[in-house]
Amino acid sequence: MAHYHCVVCSVTIARKTDMVSHLKRHVNKGETEASYSGSSDVQFEEPTPSGQAYEILKELGTNVQLLPNHTTPQKSDTYFNRKMKTNRQLVFCSIAVLAEERNPLECLDAFGATGIMGLQWAKHLRNSVRVTITDISDICVKMIKENCELNNIRVDGGSRGPRAPEKAGSEAETAPIATLEVAKMDANVIMHLRSFDYIHLDPFGTAVNYLDAAFRNVRNLGIISVTSTDTSSLYAKSPNVTLRHYGCHIVRTEYYKELAARMVVASVARAAARCNKGIEVLLAVALEHFVLVVVRVLRGPTQADESAKKLRKLVHCQWCEERVFLKLGNMVDDTLPCNCHGSLPGKTAVQLGPLWSGPLFNTGFLRRMLSAAVQHSMDDIQPLVKTLICESECTTLKSLVHGSSALTNQVECGVVIKTLQSGEDGGPADQSGKRKSGEESGNVVKKLKPDVSLEHPPFYYSIHRHSIRGMNMPKLNKFLHYLTEAGFRVSRTHFDPTGVRTNATLQQFKSVLTKYSVPTCTNAGASAQMSVSAEKPV
Ligand SMILES: *[C@@H]1O[C@H](CO)[C@@H](O)[C@H](O)[C@H]1NC(C)=O
Ligand SMILES: *[C@@H]1O[C@H](CO)[C@@H](O)[C@H](O)[C@H]1NC(C)=O
Repeated sequence: MAHYHCVVCSVTIARKTDMVSHLKRHVNKGETEASYSGSSDVQFEEPTPSGQAYEILKELGTNVQLLPNHTTPQKSDTYFNRKMKTNRQLVFCSIAVLAEERNPLECLDAFGATGIMGLQWAKHLRNSVRVTITDISDICVKMIKENCELNNIRVDGGSRGPRAPEKAGSEAETAPIATLEVAKMDANVIMHLRSFDYIHLDPFGTAVNYLDAAFRNVRNLGIISVTSTDTSSLYAKSPNVTLRHYGCHIVRTEYYKELAARMVVASVARAAARCNKGIEVLLAVALEHFVLVVVRVLRGPTQADESAKKLRKLVHCQWCEERVFLKLGNMVDDTLPCNCHGSLPGKTAVQLGPLWSGPLFNTGFLRRMLSAAVQHSMDDIQPLVKTLICESECTTLKSLVHGSSALTNQVECGVVIKTLQSGEDGGPADQSGKRKSGEESGNVVKKLKPDVSLEHPPFYYSIHRHSIRGMNMPKLNKFLHYLTEAGFRVSRTHFDPTGVRTNATLQQFKSVLTKYSVPTCTNAGASAQMSVSAEKPV
């Protein structure tokens, strides 16, 4: 059964006629610049670039031409989604950071599609990276090669496209700005055959089928990044599929996005462990349409054991949504700090997981990513990276930063750049040579048991979910301040604009919330009042 993917919003549609009208709606709403003239005789199955209207997208200075429609029961195709720009930028910054540690960096874009990711890496990191883009589809490989020409990038290890692009004109005379390799190969095959320092997996849907091959040959202290777009299994809308693909039992919770991130990391950690490798999570981000997990690879059985031990079950109260990770070997009975199991008839707690219980962010790495974002003028991504930095330290913007990472003159997350470029935060990264670089992995290698009290606490509470009936709650930023004053670690979270990451228990959280909530005036609807304090995160 053929089905079609929308290039704009990635929705999957079974019938061609539906796809055509779906695309037309996008065009009418101005959501795409594609001059799509979808007559019913448009050839979906074997689109030939010449006959089609192209959409040329400019993102980060990389031109990508795109077929307005395509077949695609395949895992990859010319599928290009604007909403994934954040994803591409985060991946780019993480590569830029690794490129500072080793040179040249061999990186693989294992699901090329239009090739935009790999093209961006090659175009902006030039000689510091050796980019390989692979795709299993002939059409995609052809398109990737055309996109290389469009960007004045030389294609290595393959003949140039059969026809010169009409527009190349003056650029064609100048020397190519970079070289990259385009391969027509299955992602698993190329990853089994060759070693890379950086591997990016971005298949259609879940990435679980590619993790084993990715960890097999990836170099020590290299990085694997995984983008997952199977949001219905990730966000607990199809628990059967979740169980099938991730071996994980989950229910819908107020913290479902972090649950999704921890579930993906758990799959990644298990795959790594099977290859006697451990992982350190550099960042785990869940936004509306995807979950992105970026991990450092730590070779060796000891590292593998350390990661495997971080896979835990989560005990979750279905009534109040309090949750705690089960410690290894713990009795289950009174694990939860809530009293629901005593005060309510029947049982309320379920075991979810197994999930990754370790940290989801590495502050040092995120700071270097922010620096890379500044360097490459990626303005859009900077607020998110700053939020992640605060989240990783579990601090609000104005608090002093925790931790030992050399952040001497650091007052606010916004001024990271100066610290970084003076090299203070880079730590041993540049000096210690190729194989032992990376401040964060360096730390992990040395002390296998990092100071847990400095790690960000897992999960967050939604201030809306726990608001007190008939009371006006304080503004979120005020409330964060009150919680800090009460002695708890506190930050906002990118996972949820109404979320509060804190080491307070739900009971403690609620008691502070109660203390600073004021009764609503008589007949004002409580729920109407509550929605007032939803603020956007930084
Ligand atoms: C999920 O699996 C259960 C049995 O394990 C089955 O009864 C149910 O129909 C399945 N749900 C879906 C949506 O397939
Ligand atoms: C939360 O963290 C603070 C600061 O590290 C600590 O003093 C407090 O005991 C912690 N509270 C809980 C409930 O873990």
